[in-house]
This record gives sequence, structure tokens and C-alpha cells, in this order.
Amino acid sequence: MDKFVINGGVPLRGEIATSGSKNSALPALAAALLTEEPVTLHRIPRVRDIRTMQRLLVDIGAKVDVEGESVQLTTPRIVCPEAPYELVKTMRASSLVLGPLVARSGRARVSLPGGCAIGARPINLHIFGLEQLGARIRQSHGYIEAEAPDGLRGAVVHFDRITVTGTEDLMMAAVLAKGETVLRNAAREPEVADLAGLLIKMGAKIEGAGTSTIRIQGVTELGGAAHTIIPDRIEAGTFAIAGAITGGDLTVNGCVPDHIGALLAKLQQVGVEVTQPQSNAVRVRAAGRLRSVDMTTEEYPGFATDLQAQYMALMTQAEGIAIIIETIFENRFMHAQELARMGANIRLDGKQAIVAGPRELTGAGVIASDLRASASLVLAALVARGETVIDRVYHIDRGYEKIEAKLAQVGAKIRRVE
Ligand code: EPU
Repeated sequence: MDKFVINGGVPLRGEIATSGSKNSALPALAAALLTEEPVTLHRIPRVRDIRTMQRLLVDIGAKVDVEGESVQLTTPRIVCPEAPYELVKTMRASSLVLGPLVARSGRARVSLPGGCAIGARPINLHIFGLEQLGARIRQSHGYIEAEAPDGLRGAVVHFDRITVTGTEDLMMAAVLAKGETVLRNAAREPEVADLAGLLIKMGAKIEGAGTSTIRIQGVTELGGAAHTIIPDRIEAGTFAIAGAITGGDLTVNGCVPDHIGALLAKLQQVGVEVTQPQSNAVRVRAAGRLRSVDMTTEEYPGFATDLQAQYMALMTQAEGIAIIIETIFENRFMHAQELARMGANIRLDGKQAIVAGPRELTGAGVIASDLRASASLVLAALVARGETVIDRVYHIDRGYEKIEAKLAQVGAKIRRVE
């Protein structure tokens, strides 16, 4: 198992590039199942979750050709409409094939995800939505079996709570359903709008993606298309925090600043100078002292839960008390104990983390527990005195493309050891 060895204390300076969005690429890959024609996707990040999804799609019947950051998928027919437990347990986003499979072949068998490091994460809302569209759902042996032999039919689906992949799954099911589907209380994340953009290029009729009401007129078939995935806002946000926490001067290139608007506003309140040298770049400069500022995670356009752990690392270096409230997942504070091992003063109280700073962090052996928790440990290590060894970095490899190489280029002393 690989580890990162990081020697902290170097302010990051220079320019760092953003890769394509993992959470946009995953549903886009699944969307290729909706047509027998080729779908070409550009700016696909080279991370482990993407490789897992490609493996799943090959088993289902897709031919997948990868060339650098471009992937072409062709699915002449669905050979095996199934997402097995072995894959779903390593990547919950595998459930994104449920909607496309039922829509294309009238049948899907998808393993239920089970427990997760950040919370329960059920898929009941995906199932509820498919039932509204007329699918018959059975659960047995840990699997969901969905059937719609005569096809799906449009319906109004009102989500009980906002779900990102649930909205994406249902959108992919509804594009081939008979008649109109209206998704209410839909997720407004940029990844949902990006998926809609791809589906529209494939011939789907979708209005309102990116708002909380999405209207879809079903069509009888979809065709091939080419699409470029949006930049990864969570990676860009992680880098912006890296610049801030090290007291550096870092320009994050190739991002969409609006997509991290909530974070950038927070950074300014914290005392970081934030500018936009270009429409697709953000420069962060942190020369003086940082102030503690409270933060509550919310659905987009609120502060992303996927940046909460990284923000917590930043708050260990800020003066005062910051109250961080996690509202999306019930168990997403695993990084707090590891940050405490490095010297942070953090108290957990249910959904709240109370961080008192600034505290000098010192290098230690720590364990990555999930993707974003790992990113927060990298950030803490970049500012800690001495050497930090982060174990189980396979978590970070799920969602960050060559993070150690990118950070090293802007001055970080980080290396991967096997
Ligand atoms: N929920 C339900 N029932 C459902 C679906 C969700 O109760 O059927 C609950 C969840 O348990 C959670 C909340 O609703 O408490 C929101 O979950 P959501 O469904 O929005 O999360 P997701 O779609 O499974 C995506 C991202 C996550 C990100 C969340 C929230 C992908 C592939 N994953 O997950 O990304 O944290 O939205 O923004 O898009 C990550 O990249 O590290 C990551 C975990």
C-alpha cells in the first residue's frame, strides 16, 4: 500500500492545473449506456474511481477506448445489466448505471451499497424515483432488481431530500421514458447540469438542469455525441486551500471560479486575498494572519461537503474558534481525530466540529479514512513542522489525479513511497 511522506513548512507558489471533474465524469460514462452509438468524453480525470467505472461498463457490454484524457465508449448491446457487489462496495457511484440500464434494456440488477466511511448513504431515493417511472423493484440477496419490460413512463418525482447521483440516475432513466418527467427538489450541482449538457447532445430533451425543477421529454432513442467534462471544483478548491494554509501565492488554473464561489467567499473572510487573473483561474495569496470563520455545509451553491475536511485543516491555522457544521453526511469527521494527532484542537459534538486555533501542527503518522479526509491530511501535513507519513493513500488516488506531482511542482515536499 502506498504512503505519502510530506515535509511541511514550504509556502506553495506558482501555478497548478485542475483536472476534469470525477463526479461529472462518472455519470457521463454511465450515460454512454443509453445509446449504441459512440460517445466520446474529453477531460476525463485519470483517477481510480474512473477506472472502476470503466471496468463496470466493460462487464455490462461497453467497448471502452482510452487515449490520454479522452475516452470513447460504444455499447452495441447490453450483455449483462448488472453492477456486482465487488465493484459497488469499492465505489458507490456504481449505482449510476441503474437508471441507464433500466431505460435502455428494461432490466437492471445492482448491488445495494452497504456501509460507508462517511455515513449511511442509502439509494432509496433512486429506487423511489424509478418506481414513480413505472419500474418494478425487488430486493433480494443484497441486490436491487428493477424491471420495466414495456419501458418507463414519465412522471412527477419529488425528492424527499436533495440527492446528486439520485437526480443524475433519474435524469438518465427519464430521457428514454414515454412522455414528460418532472424532477422536483432536484440537485443543482454543476455536475448535474454537465450531465444534462451531454444528454442533450445525445438527443435528449431536458430543461432546467442546474435548477431545482428539471423537465424531461422522453425520446425513443439517443445517439452518439462528444463532450468535454467540466473542471473538478473540489480539486480546485483543495488547491486554493493549499495555497492559503501554507501562506503561499498559488494560481489555480483551468477551473470555473463560480463553482467554488462559496469557498472563495469564505477564504476572503478568513483573510486570504482572492483574485481572478483570468476567467478560468483563481489566485490565492495568504501573507498575514488567518481568522477563524464558521462554516456550514450545504447543497450547491452552498459550501460543499466535499471541501469540509480541507476547510477544517485550514481552520487549525486560523485565530479564534470556528464552528463547522456538517449537514449532508452524518459521519464525515473522521479526519478530526487524525488532525488532532498532529496537534489540532478540535472537539466534536454531533454534527458540529469546534476548532480552536491557531495551533502549531507537527508531523505524525496518520491514516487516510476516505477521499476528502485524506486531502485534509495532506493539507495539514503541508503546514506541519517535520515529517508526516500518510498511510492508505489509495483513498486519495480515487479522486485526485497525481496530487503529489501537482503539489511538488509548486514547491511542496511530498513523495509517494510504496
Ligand atoms: N440520501 C438518501 N437517500 C438516497 C440518496 C441520498 O438518504 O437515496 C442521503 C445521503 O445519505 C446523504 C444525502 O442524501 O446524507 C446526500 O447524498 P447524495 O445522494 O447527494 O450524495 P451522492 O450522490 O451519493 C455525491 C458525490 C459525493 C458528494 C455528495 C454530496 C458523486 C459520485 N458523489 O454523492 O462525492 O459528497 O454528492 O455533494 O457525485 C466525493 O467526491 O468525495 C464524494 C463523496
